[in-house]
Amino acid sequence: MEDYKRVLDHPLIQHKVSLMRDKETGTKDFRELLEEISTLMAYEVTRDLPMKEIEIETPICRTKTRVISGKKLAVVPILRAGLGMVDGITKLVPAAKVGHIGLYRDPESLEPVEYYCKLPPDVGERDLIVVDPMLATGGSASAAITFIKRRSCKSIKLMCLIAAPEGIEKVHEDHPDVPIYVAVVDDRLNEHGYIVPGLGDAGDRLFGTK
Ligand code: PRP
Ligand code: URA
Repeated sequence: MEDYKRVLDHPLIQHKVSLMRDKETGTKDFRELLEEISTLMAYEVTRDLPMKEIEIETPICRTKTRVISGKKLAVVPILRAGLGMVDGITKLVPAAKVGHIGLYRDPESLEPVEYYCKLPPDVGERDLIVVDPMLATGGSASAAITFIKRRSCKSIKLMCLIAAPEGIEKVHEDHPDVPIYVAVVDDRLNEHGYIVPGLGDAGDRLFGTK
């Protein structure tokens, strides 16, 4: 497998993605499943965080032990659907800051349109995890990463639930320095730019807007 593409095919993740795909799964379960999967994925996405040794005293003796060191984290959801992944990550990394990027995909051109951007002031000194459940054409994720890079961020990872091969290629072509973590790579896009088989419109299913 290419080094930039990490498919997290743990049975728990795969099982929960299957439940989310089912069109009978309602908003409450969809939301809970997305949060749970985000926690499971965050465990892998943070695997290479730098560590340092400290000295502490247990009830038994003094000992050296390891804790996370280095740069701090920020999670950047792409609105709207990326919001559903934030709590699952901050549960594991409560000190992470959260930035927001608002993008929607123009239904005709499928081009991303930015409508909001608010990032932590020290974002350039943080490791960033950009999150969005769907990576379809890759236009939204690639544009979000471009906006973030303009604010001098260098350490960026992308974490998505379901990706189309086209989306992975687009992001990799535009941002070869950004590793892409996904739970599943699906077959293709349909003529409306939806992932097949996918799970439909993630934002609408998450917020019950359709
Ligand atoms: C969805 C999804 C991604 C984007 C993926 O958002 O959450 O952001 O489409 O498509 P792309 O890879 O082709 O750009 P959408 O534009 O539907 O907005 P929403 O989250 O506000 O519903
Ligand atoms: N956005 C979604 O929410 N779903 C898709 O399949 C593609 C883009």
